[in-house]
Amino acid sequence: FNVPTPVNEPVKAYAPGSPERKELQAALAKARAMQVDVPMYIGSEEVRTGNKHPMSPPHDHQHVLGHFHEGDASHVEQAINAALGAKHAWENMAWEQRAAIFLKAADLIAGPYRAKINAATMLGQSKNAMQAEIDAACEFIDFLRFNVKYMTEIYAQQPPVSGNGVWNRLEQRPLEGFIFALTPFNFTAIAGNLPASAAMMGNTIVWKPAYTQIYSANVLMEVFKEAGVPDGVINLIYVDGPVAGDIIFKHPDFAGIHFTGSTGVFQHIWKEIGANINKFKSYPRIVGETGGKDFVIAHKSAIPKAVAVGLVRGAFEYQGQKCSAASRAYIPSNIWDEVKGYMLEDLASMKMGGTEDFTNFVNAVIDEKAFDKISSYIAKAKEAPGVEIIAGGNYDKSKGYFIEPTVIVTQDPMYTTMCEEIFGPVLTIYVYNAENFEETLELVDQTGPYALTGAVFSQDRYAIELATTKLKNAAGNFYINDKPTGAVVGQQPFGGSRASGTNDKAGSMINLLRWVSPRTIKETF
Ligand code: SER
Repeated sequence: FNVPTPVNEPVKAYAPGSPERKELQAALAKARAMQVDVPMYIGSEEVRTGNKHPMSPPHDHQHVLGHFHEGDASHVEQAINAALGAKHAWENMAWEQRAAIFLKAADLIAGPYRAKINAATMLGQSKNAMQAEIDAACEFIDFLRFNVKYMTEIYAQQPPVSGNGVWNRLEQRPLEGFIFALTPFNFTAIAGNLPASAAMMGNTIVWKPAYTQIYSANVLMEVFKEAGVPDGVINLIYVDGPVAGDIIFKHPDFAGIHFTGSTGVFQHIWKEIGANINKFKSYPRIVGETGGKDFVIAHKSAIPKAVAVGLVRGAFEYQGQKCSAASRAYIPSNIWDEVKGYMLEDLASMKMGGTEDFTNFVNAVIDEKAFDKISSYIAKAKEAPGVEIIAGGNYDKSKGYFIEPTVIVTQDPMYTTMCEEIFGPVLTIYVYNAENFEETLELVDQTGPYALTGAVFSQDRYAIELATTKLKNAAGNFYINDKPTGAVVGQQPFGGSRASGTNDKAGSMINLLRWVSPRTIKETF
Protein backbone atom coordinates (compact mmCIF):
# COMPACT_ATOMS: atom_id res chain seq x y z
CA PHE A 1 0.00 0.00 0.00
CA ASN A 2 1.09 3.52 -0.59
CA VAL A 3 -0.42 6.93 -1.05
CA PRO A 4 0.48 9.40 -3.78
CA THR A 5 3.28 11.83 -3.00
CA PRO A 6 1.47 15.11 -2.40
CA VAL A 7 2.23 18.42 -4.03
CA ASN A 8 1.63 21.64 -2.13
CA GLU A 9 -1.89 22.92 -2.61
CA PRO A 10 -1.75 25.84 -5.09
CA VAL A 11 -2.65 29.21 -3.55
CA LYS A 12 -5.65 30.85 -5.19
CA ALA A 13 -5.17 34.54 -6.00
CA TYR A 14 -8.70 35.88 -5.38
CA ALA A 15 -8.20 38.43 -8.14
CA PRO A 16 -10.99 40.98 -8.60
CA GLY A 17 -13.84 39.41 -10.58
CA SER A 18 -12.49 35.84 -10.26
CA PRO A 19 -14.97 33.05 -9.49
CA GLU A 20 -13.10 32.23 -6.27
CA ARG A 21 -13.39 35.82 -5.08
CA LYS A 22 -17.13 35.82 -5.76
CA GLU A 23 -17.54 32.57 -3.91
CA LEU A 24 -15.54 33.87 -0.95
CA GLN A 25 -17.51 37.11 -0.86
CA ALA A 26 -20.75 35.16 -0.85
CA ALA A 27 -19.45 33.00 2.02
CA LEU A 28 -18.47 36.12 3.95
CA ALA A 29 -21.87 37.72 3.43
CA LYS A 30 -23.63 34.54 4.47
CA ALA A 31 -21.50 34.12 7.59
CA ARG A 32 -22.00 37.75 8.61
CA ALA A 33 -25.75 37.51 8.19
CA MET A 34 -26.33 34.33 10.14
CA GLN A 35 -26.14 33.81 13.87
CA VAL A 36 -24.29 30.56 14.26
CA ASP A 37 -24.91 28.53 17.41
CA VAL A 38 -21.75 26.57 18.15
CA PRO A 39 -21.96 23.47 20.34
CA MET A 40 -19.18 21.41 21.86
CA TYR A 41 -18.74 17.99 20.22
CA ILE A 42 -18.38 15.14 22.70
CA GLY A 43 -18.72 11.58 21.47
CA SER A 44 -21.83 11.49 19.30
CA GLU A 45 -23.35 14.50 21.05
CA GLU A 46 -23.53 18.16 20.12
CA VAL A 47 -23.51 19.70 23.58
CA ARG A 48 -25.31 22.99 24.16
CA THR A 49 -24.96 24.12 27.77
CA GLY A 50 -26.81 27.40 27.45
CA ASN A 51 -23.77 29.19 28.88
CA LYS A 52 -23.40 31.18 25.69
CA HIS A 53 -20.63 33.58 24.71
CA PRO A 54 -20.67 35.88 21.69
CA MET A 55 -18.13 35.65 18.87
CA SER A 56 -17.21 38.83 16.97
CA PRO A 57 -14.78 39.86 14.24
CA PRO A 58 -11.73 41.48 15.88
CA HIS A 59 -12.01 44.27 13.28
CA ASP A 60 -15.68 44.90 14.06
CA HIS A 61 -16.20 43.94 17.68
CA GLN A 62 -19.78 45.14 17.94
CA HIS A 63 -20.96 42.73 15.27
CA VAL A 64 -21.98 39.35 16.65
CA LEU A 65 -21.36 36.34 14.40
CA GLY A 66 -23.02 33.92 16.77
CA HIS A 67 -22.44 32.24 20.10
CA PHE A 68 -20.59 29.24 21.46
CA HIS A 69 -21.65 27.14 24.40
CA GLU A 70 -19.08 27.02 27.17
CA GLY A 71 -18.66 23.86 29.22
CA ASP A 72 -17.37 23.05 32.68
CA ALA A 73 -15.43 20.32 34.47
CA SER A 74 -18.12 17.73 33.74
CA HIS A 75 -17.60 18.21 30.00
CA VAL A 76 -13.89 17.65 30.34
CA GLU A 77 -14.62 14.31 32.03
CA GLN A 78 -17.16 13.44 29.36
CA ALA A 79 -14.74 14.28 26.56
CA ILE A 80 -12.02 12.12 28.14
CA ASN A 81 -14.46 9.24 28.51
CA ALA A 82 -15.65 9.64 24.94
CA ALA A 83 -12.04 9.61 23.71
CA LEU A 84 -11.23 6.50 25.74
CA GLY A 85 -14.44 4.83 24.61
CA ALA A 86 -13.69 5.43 20.93
CA LYS A 87 -10.11 4.28 21.22
CA HIS A 88 -10.34 0.54 20.73
CA ALA A 89 -12.22 0.65 17.43
CA TRP A 90 -10.17 3.54 16.10
CA GLU A 91 -6.74 2.16 16.85
CA ASN A 92 -7.69 -1.21 15.41
CA MET A 93 -9.03 0.27 12.22
CA ALA A 94 -6.69 -0.43 9.29
CA TRP A 95 -4.45 2.56 8.78
CA GLU A 96 -5.60 2.80 5.16
CA GLN A 97 -9.06 3.70 6.46
CA ARG A 98 -7.66 6.40 8.74
CA ALA A 99 -5.58 7.69 5.85
CA ALA A 100 -8.65 7.84 3.64
CA ILE A 101 -10.58 9.87 6.21
CA PHE A 102 -7.88 12.54 6.45
CA LEU A 103 -7.28 12.60 2.70
CA LYS A 104 -10.98 13.16 2.28
CA ALA A 105 -10.84 15.99 4.85
CA ALA A 106 -8.09 17.60 2.74
CA ASP A 107 -10.24 17.28 -0.38
CA LEU A 108 -13.25 18.77 1.39
CA ILE A 109 -11.20 21.82 2.39
CA ALA A 110 -9.71 22.07 -1.11
CA GLY A 111 -13.18 21.99 -2.66
CA PRO A 112 -16.56 22.52 -1.04
CA TYR A 113 -15.34 23.96 2.28
CA ARG A 114 -12.62 26.24 0.98
CA ALA A 115 -14.69 29.42 0.92
CA LYS A 116 -16.36 28.61 4.22
CA ILE A 117 -13.16 27.95 6.18
CA ASN A 118 -11.46 30.99 4.65
CA ALA A 119 -14.45 33.21 5.44
CA ALA A 120 -14.54 31.91 9.02
CA THR A 121 -10.81 32.64 9.42
CA MET A 122 -11.20 36.11 7.90
CA LEU A 123 -14.12 37.00 10.16
CA GLY A 124 -13.19 35.18 13.33
CA GLN A 125 -9.45 35.87 13.37
CA SER A 126 -9.19 38.97 11.14
CA LYS A 127 -6.96 37.53 8.44
CA ASN A 128 -7.14 39.03 4.98
CA ALA A 129 -8.19 36.79 2.08
CA MET A 130 -4.66 35.87 1.03
CA GLN A 131 -3.53 35.10 4.57
CA ALA A 132 -6.64 32.99 5.21
CA GLU A 133 -6.09 31.11 1.95
CA ILE A 134 -2.46 30.35 2.79
CA ASP A 135 -3.35 29.25 6.33
CA ALA A 136 -6.81 27.73 6.55
CA ALA A 137 -6.90 26.26 3.05
CA CYS A 138 -3.40 25.51 1.72
CA GLU A 139 -1.43 24.88 4.91
CA PHE A 140 -4.15 22.75 6.44
CA ILE A 141 -4.58 20.71 3.25
CA ASP A 142 -0.80 20.24 3.10
CA PHE A 143 -0.64 19.17 6.74
CA LEU A 144 -3.25 16.50 6.10
CA ARG A 145 -1.86 15.17 2.84
CA PHE A 146 1.82 15.22 3.80
CA ASN A 147 1.14 13.71 7.21
CA VAL A 148 -0.75 10.84 5.60
CA LYS A 149 2.28 10.28 3.39
CA TYR A 150 4.64 10.35 6.39
CA MET A 151 2.32 8.00 8.23
CA THR A 152 2.66 5.39 5.50
CA GLU A 153 6.43 5.74 5.60
CA ILE A 154 6.45 5.27 9.36
CA TYR A 155 4.41 2.08 9.13
CA ALA A 156 6.70 0.80 6.39
CA GLN A 157 9.86 1.17 8.51
CA GLN A 158 10.90 -2.27 9.68
CA PRO A 159 14.12 -3.69 11.15
CA PRO A 160 16.37 -4.48 8.18
CA VAL A 161 17.75 -7.75 9.53
CA SER A 162 15.93 -10.90 10.58
CA GLY A 163 18.19 -13.86 9.83
CA ASN A 164 17.24 -17.48 9.25
CA GLY A 165 14.40 -18.75 11.39
CA VAL A 166 13.61 -15.34 12.83
CA TRP A 167 11.23 -12.56 11.86
CA ASN A 168 11.83 -9.20 13.57
CA ARG A 169 9.20 -6.57 13.22
CA LEU A 170 8.09 -3.23 14.57
CA GLU A 171 4.52 -2.42 15.45
CA GLN A 172 3.67 1.28 15.70
CA ARG A 173 1.15 1.33 18.51
CA PRO A 174 -0.82 4.48 19.29
CA LEU A 175 -0.19 5.87 22.79
CA GLU A 176 -2.05 4.26 25.67
CA GLY A 177 -4.66 6.79 26.75
CA PHE A 178 -5.96 10.03 25.26
CA ILE A 179 -4.15 13.01 23.73
CA PHE A 180 -4.94 16.60 24.68
CA ALA A 181 -4.71 19.08 21.77
CA LEU A 182 -4.47 22.66 23.03
CA THR A 183 -4.51 24.91 20.02
CA PRO A 184 -3.87 28.59 19.22
CA PHE A 185 -5.88 31.33 17.53
CA ASN A 186 -3.32 32.47 15.02
CA PHE A 187 -3.35 29.61 12.52
CA THR A 188 -6.49 27.70 11.62
CA ALA A 189 -4.18 25.11 10.06
CA ILE A 190 -2.34 24.54 13.33
CA ALA A 191 -5.63 24.33 15.24
CA GLY A 192 -6.74 21.58 12.85
CA ASN A 193 -3.40 19.83 12.58
CA LEU A 194 -2.72 19.34 16.28
CA PRO A 195 -5.72 17.05 16.83
CA ALA A 196 -5.61 15.56 13.31
CA SER A 197 -1.96 14.47 13.27
CA ALA A 198 -2.21 12.66 16.60
CA ALA A 199 -5.56 11.13 15.60
CA MET A 200 -4.16 9.91 12.29
CA MET A 201 -1.69 7.72 14.19
CA GLY A 202 -4.57 5.94 15.92
CA ASN A 203 -5.01 8.14 18.99
CA THR A 204 -8.19 9.71 20.28
CA ILE A 205 -8.30 13.33 21.24
CA VAL A 206 -9.67 15.95 23.60
CA TRP A 207 -9.33 19.22 21.70
CA LYS A 208 -9.54 22.61 23.35
CA PRO A 209 -9.05 25.53 20.97
CA ALA A 210 -8.29 29.12 21.97
CA TYR A 211 -11.62 30.87 22.63
CA THR A 212 -10.75 33.36 19.89
CA GLN A 213 -10.59 30.56 17.30
CA ILE A 214 -13.78 28.69 18.16
CA TYR A 215 -15.59 30.27 15.22
CA SER A 216 -13.34 28.56 12.64
CA ALA A 217 -12.70 25.47 14.83
CA ASN A 218 -16.41 24.75 14.43
CA VAL A 219 -15.97 24.61 10.66
CA LEU A 220 -12.93 22.34 11.01
CA MET A 221 -15.04 20.01 13.14
CA GLU A 222 -17.74 19.99 10.48
CA VAL A 223 -15.09 18.90 7.98
CA PHE A 224 -13.74 16.16 10.25
CA LYS A 225 -17.27 14.81 10.73
CA GLU A 226 -18.10 14.89 7.03
CA ALA A 227 -14.79 13.23 6.19
CA GLY A 228 -15.78 10.33 8.41
CA VAL A 229 -13.85 10.84 11.65
CA PRO A 230 -15.89 8.58 13.94
CA ASP A 231 -17.68 9.92 17.00
CA GLY A 232 -15.42 10.26 20.02
CA VAL A 233 -12.15 10.28 18.07
CA ILE A 234 -11.89 14.08 18.19
CA ASN A 235 -13.86 15.73 20.99
CA LEU A 236 -14.05 19.51 20.85
CA ILE A 237 -14.63 21.36 24.12
CA TYR A 238 -14.66 24.98 25.25
CA VAL A 239 -13.72 25.00 28.90
CA ASP A 240 -11.67 27.43 30.95
CA GLY A 241 -7.96 26.43 30.78
CA PRO A 242 -7.23 25.88 34.49
CA VAL A 243 -10.50 23.92 34.92
CA ALA A 244 -9.59 21.60 32.03
CA GLY A 245 -5.95 21.35 33.10
CA ASP A 246 -6.86 20.40 36.64
CA ILE A 247 -8.61 17.28 35.35
CA ILE A 248 -6.51 16.37 32.34
CA PHE A 249 -3.06 16.72 33.92
CA LYS A 250 -3.98 14.37 36.75
CA HIS A 251 -5.81 11.75 34.72
CA PRO A 252 -4.15 8.30 34.69
CA ASP A 253 -4.93 7.92 30.97
CA PHE A 254 -3.41 11.25 29.96
CA ALA A 255 -0.94 10.12 27.29
CA GLY A 256 0.31 13.36 25.80
CA ILE A 257 -0.26 16.97 24.89
CA HIS A 258 0.02 18.53 21.44
CA PHE A 259 0.35 22.23 22.10
CA THR A 260 0.90 25.50 20.32
CA GLY A 261 0.67 28.68 22.36
CA SER A 262 2.59 30.86 24.76
CA THR A 263 5.81 29.90 26.51
CA GLY A 264 4.32 30.82 29.90
CA VAL A 265 1.34 28.49 29.52
CA PHE A 266 3.51 25.66 28.20
CA GLN A 267 5.95 25.92 31.09
CA HIS A 268 3.07 25.96 33.56
CA ILE A 269 1.61 22.83 31.94
CA TRP A 270 4.99 21.10 31.98
CA LYS A 271 5.29 21.77 35.72
CA GLU A 272 1.79 20.44 36.37
CA ILE A 273 2.54 17.29 34.42
CA GLY A 274 5.80 16.91 36.34
CA ALA A 275 4.07 17.41 39.68
CA ASN A 276 1.62 14.60 38.84
CA ILE A 277 4.05 12.26 37.13
CA ASN A 278 3.31 9.30 39.40
CA LYS A 279 -0.40 9.46 38.50
CA PHE A 280 -0.05 8.55 34.83
CA LYS A 281 0.16 5.08 33.32
CA SER A 282 2.89 6.24 30.94
CA TYR A 283 5.23 9.21 30.68
CA PRO A 284 3.08 11.66 28.75
CA ARG A 285 4.44 12.94 25.45
CA ILE A 286 4.92 16.70 25.72
CA VAL A 287 5.02 18.34 22.32
CA GLY A 288 4.85 22.11 22.23
CA GLU A 289 5.54 24.97 19.95
CA THR A 290 5.68 28.20 21.92
CA GLY A 291 7.03 31.74 21.68
CA GLY A 292 9.60 33.45 19.56
CA LYS A 293 11.58 36.65 19.26
CA ASP A 294 12.61 36.09 15.73
CA PHE A 295 15.50 37.96 14.19
CA VAL A 296 16.65 39.35 10.91
CA ILE A 297 20.32 40.21 10.56
CA ALA A 298 21.65 41.84 7.43
CA HIS A 299 25.29 41.85 6.40
CA LYS A 300 26.84 44.93 4.77
CA SER A 301 26.69 43.05 1.42
CA ALA A 302 22.90 42.54 1.62
CA ILE A 303 20.57 43.89 -1.06
CA PRO A 304 18.68 46.73 0.70
CA LYS A 305 15.38 46.17 -1.09
CA ALA A 306 15.40 42.44 -0.30
CA VAL A 307 16.03 43.23 3.36
CA ALA A 308 13.19 45.78 3.44
CA VAL A 309 10.73 43.36 1.82
CA GLY A 310 11.77 40.60 4.21
CA LEU A 311 11.29 42.89 7.20
CA VAL A 312 7.91 44.28 6.19
CA ARG A 313 6.44 40.93 5.22
CA GLY A 314 8.12 39.04 8.03
CA ALA A 315 7.05 41.51 10.69
CA PHE A 316 3.65 42.70 9.61
CA GLU A 317 1.78 39.97 7.75
CA TYR A 318 -1.12 38.94 9.94
CA GLN A 319 -0.28 41.86 12.24
CA GLY A 320 2.81 40.05 13.46
CA GLN A 321 0.67 37.49 15.25
CA LYS A 322 2.92 34.60 14.31
CA CYS A 323 5.39 32.93 16.59
CA SER A 324 7.71 33.16 13.57
CA ALA A 325 7.27 36.92 12.97
CA ALA A 326 10.37 39.04 12.49
CA SER A 327 10.42 41.27 15.54
CA ARG A 328 14.06 42.28 16.04
CA ALA A 329 16.38 43.34 13.27
CA TYR A 330 20.07 44.16 13.09
CA ILE A 331 20.85 46.34 10.09
CA PRO A 332 24.35 47.52 9.13
CA SER A 333 24.89 51.25 9.02
CA ASN A 334 26.00 51.27 5.35
CA ILE A 335 22.63 50.13 3.98
CA TRP A 336 20.30 51.46 6.68
CA ASP A 337 19.13 54.61 4.86
CA GLU A 338 18.17 52.62 1.79
CA VAL A 339 16.47 49.85 3.78
CA LYS A 340 14.54 52.46 5.75
CA GLY A 341 13.47 54.27 2.57
CA TYR A 342 12.06 51.11 0.98
CA MET A 343 10.34 50.08 4.19
CA LEU A 344 8.62 53.42 4.70
CA GLU A 345 7.49 53.45 1.09
CA ASP A 346 6.06 49.95 1.42
CA LEU A 347 4.33 50.68 4.72
CA ALA A 348 2.80 53.91 3.41
CA SER A 349 0.99 51.92 0.71
CA MET A 350 -0.62 49.51 3.14
CA LYS A 351 -4.26 50.05 3.94
CA MET A 352 -5.66 49.11 7.33
CA GLY A 353 -9.24 47.98 7.96
CA GLY A 354 -11.66 45.07 8.00
CA THR A 355 -11.05 41.88 6.07
CA GLU A 356 -14.21 42.11 3.95
CA ASP A 357 -12.57 44.92 1.96
CA PHE A 358 -9.98 42.95 0.00
CA THR A 359 -7.75 46.00 -0.48
CA ASN A 360 -6.90 46.13 3.22
CA PHE A 361 -3.58 44.52 4.01
CA VAL A 362 -3.50 45.30 7.72
CA ASN A 363 -6.39 44.03 9.83
CA ALA A 364 -7.06 43.92 13.55
CA VAL A 365 -5.21 42.13 16.33
CA ILE A 366 -7.11 39.31 17.91
CA ASP A 367 -8.74 40.84 21.00
CA GLU A 368 -8.71 43.61 23.55
CA LYS A 369 -6.17 41.92 25.78
CA ALA A 370 -3.72 41.65 22.87
CA PHE A 371 -4.49 45.24 21.83
CA ASP A 372 -3.77 46.56 25.33
CA LYS A 373 -0.55 44.60 25.67
CA ILE A 374 0.84 45.57 22.27
CA SER A 375 -0.17 49.22 22.55
CA SER A 376 1.45 49.52 25.98
CA TYR A 377 4.81 48.55 24.45
CA ILE A 378 4.32 51.27 21.83
CA ALA A 379 3.28 53.85 24.44
CA LYS A 380 6.40 53.12 26.49
CA ALA A 381 8.62 53.31 23.42
CA LYS A 382 7.28 56.80 22.71
CA GLU A 383 8.70 57.96 26.04
CA ALA A 384 11.94 55.97 26.13
CA PRO A 385 15.28 57.75 25.64
CA GLY A 386 17.37 56.60 22.67
CA VAL A 387 14.29 55.10 21.04
CA GLU A 388 12.48 56.47 18.01
CA ILE A 389 9.28 55.37 16.28
CA ILE A 390 9.85 55.82 12.55
CA ALA A 391 6.57 54.33 11.27
CA GLY A 392 3.12 53.72 12.72
CA GLY A 393 2.72 54.19 16.46
CA ASN A 394 -1.04 54.82 16.42
CA TYR A 395 -3.75 52.53 17.64
CA ASP A 396 -7.52 52.65 18.08
CA LYS A 397 -9.94 50.12 19.47
CA SER A 398 -13.21 51.96 18.96
CA LYS A 399 -14.46 49.76 16.09
CA GLY A 400 -11.87 47.00 15.93
CA TYR A 401 -8.54 46.28 17.57
CA PHE A 402 -6.41 48.20 15.09
CA ILE A 403 -2.73 48.88 15.61
CA GLU A 404 -0.62 50.45 12.89
CA PRO A 405 2.44 48.52 11.77
CA THR A 406 5.03 50.13 14.01
CA VAL A 407 8.76 50.36 13.48
CA ILE A 408 10.91 51.25 16.46
CA VAL A 409 14.58 52.14 16.10
CA THR A 410 16.68 51.76 19.22
CA GLN A 411 20.26 52.65 20.07
CA ASP A 412 20.21 49.97 22.77
CA PRO A 413 20.23 46.42 21.37
CA MET A 414 18.87 45.17 24.69
CA TYR A 415 15.89 47.55 24.77
CA THR A 416 12.70 45.78 25.96
CA THR A 417 11.15 45.44 22.51
CA MET A 418 14.36 43.82 21.21
CA CYS A 419 14.05 41.11 23.87
CA GLU A 420 10.42 40.39 24.77
CA GLU A 421 7.84 38.70 22.59
CA ILE A 422 5.09 41.20 21.76
CA PHE A 423 3.02 39.10 19.32
CA GLY A 424 1.81 42.09 17.36
CA PRO A 425 2.75 44.47 14.54
CA VAL A 426 5.86 45.90 16.17
CA LEU A 427 9.34 45.60 14.70
CA THR A 428 12.39 46.93 16.52
CA ILE A 429 15.58 47.72 14.64
CA TYR A 430 19.10 48.18 15.91
CA VAL A 431 21.50 49.77 13.45
CA TYR A 432 25.01 48.40 13.97
CA ASN A 433 28.41 49.50 12.78
CA ALA A 434 28.70 47.70 9.43
CA GLU A 435 32.18 46.41 10.32
CA ASN A 436 30.92 44.59 13.44
CA PHE A 437 29.05 41.71 11.83
CA GLU A 438 30.65 38.98 13.92
CA GLU A 439 30.05 40.75 17.25
CA THR A 440 26.48 41.42 16.20
CA LEU A 441 25.95 37.72 15.51
CA GLU A 442 26.94 37.07 19.15
CA LEU A 443 24.39 39.65 20.22
CA VAL A 444 21.67 38.01 18.12
CA ASP A 445 22.45 34.63 19.65
CA GLN A 446 22.50 35.88 23.22
CA THR A 447 19.42 38.09 23.21
CA GLY A 448 16.33 36.60 24.80
CA PRO A 449 15.39 33.04 25.67
CA TYR A 450 13.92 31.98 22.31
CA ALA A 451 15.17 30.08 19.26
CA LEU A 452 12.36 29.73 16.76
CA THR A 453 13.08 31.46 13.46
CA GLY A 454 15.67 33.82 12.10
CA ALA A 455 17.06 35.16 8.86
CA VAL A 456 20.34 36.41 7.48
CA PHE A 457 20.57 38.61 4.40
CA SER A 458 23.92 38.67 2.64
CA GLN A 459 25.53 38.39 -0.78
CA ASP A 460 28.81 37.31 0.77
CA ARG A 461 29.18 33.55 1.12
CA TYR A 462 31.70 33.85 3.99
CA ALA A 463 29.22 35.98 5.92
CA ILE A 464 26.43 33.48 5.26
CA GLU A 465 28.64 30.68 6.49
CA LEU A 466 29.64 32.63 9.59
CA ALA A 467 26.00 33.43 10.43
CA THR A 468 24.91 29.84 9.81
CA THR A 469 27.60 28.57 12.18
CA LYS A 470 27.35 31.18 14.92
CA LEU A 471 23.56 31.06 14.99
CA LYS A 472 23.38 27.28 14.94
CA ASN A 473 21.24 27.13 18.08
CA ALA A 474 19.47 30.47 17.72
CA ALA A 475 16.69 29.27 15.40
CA GLY A 476 14.97 26.01 14.50
CA ASN A 477 14.02 27.52 11.14
CA PHE A 478 16.84 29.53 9.59
CA TYR A 479 16.37 31.49 6.40
CA ILE A 480 19.08 32.80 4.09
CA ASN A 481 18.01 35.82 2.05
CA ASP A 482 14.34 35.38 2.90
CA LYS A 483 11.88 36.43 5.61
CA PRO A 484 11.73 34.21 8.69
CA THR A 485 8.03 33.36 8.30
CA GLY A 486 5.87 31.24 6.04
CA ALA A 487 7.30 27.75 6.41
CA VAL A 488 5.66 25.48 3.84
CA VAL A 489 4.62 21.96 4.86
CA GLY A 490 6.70 19.36 3.05
CA GLN A 491 9.39 21.97 2.37
CA GLN A 492 10.48 23.55 5.67
CA PRO A 493 9.47 21.42 8.68
CA PHE A 494 8.67 23.96 11.40
CA GLY A 495 9.72 24.34 15.02
CA GLY A 496 12.25 25.81 17.39
CA SER A 497 14.19 25.01 20.52
CA ARG A 498 15.28 26.86 23.70
CA ALA A 499 12.14 28.57 25.10
CA SER A 500 10.40 28.22 21.72
CA GLY A 501 9.37 24.61 22.06
CA THR A 502 10.26 20.97 21.86
CA ASN A 503 11.17 21.29 18.17
CA ASP A 504 9.17 18.29 17.05
CA LYS A 505 8.75 19.89 13.62
CA ALA A 506 5.12 20.34 12.65
CA GLY A 507 4.33 18.72 9.33
CA SER A 508 7.04 16.08 9.46
CA MET A 509 7.67 12.46 10.29
CA ILE A 510 9.44 13.61 13.46
CA ASN A 511 6.16 14.97 14.79
CA LEU A 512 4.10 11.92 13.88
CA LEU A 513 6.60 9.63 15.59
CA ARG A 514 5.73 11.35 18.87
CA TRP A 515 2.20 9.91 18.67
CA VAL A 516 3.22 6.27 18.52
CA SER A 517 4.92 3.94 20.95
CA PRO A 518 6.62 1.19 18.96
CA ARG A 519 6.59 -2.43 20.01
CA THR A 520 9.40 -4.65 18.78
CA ILE A 521 8.37 -8.21 18.10
CA LYS A 522 10.84 -11.03 17.58
CA GLU A 523 9.37 -14.28 16.39
CA THR A 524 11.48 -17.41 16.19
CA PHE A 525 10.31 -20.17 13.88
N1 SER B 1 4.48 28.00 10.37
C1 SER B 1 4.30 29.41 10.51
C2 SER B 1 5.35 30.18 9.82
O1 SER B 1 6.33 29.62 9.39
C3 SER B 1 4.24 29.83 11.95
O2 SER B 1 3.51 28.98 12.74
O3 SER B 1 5.24 31.36 9.72
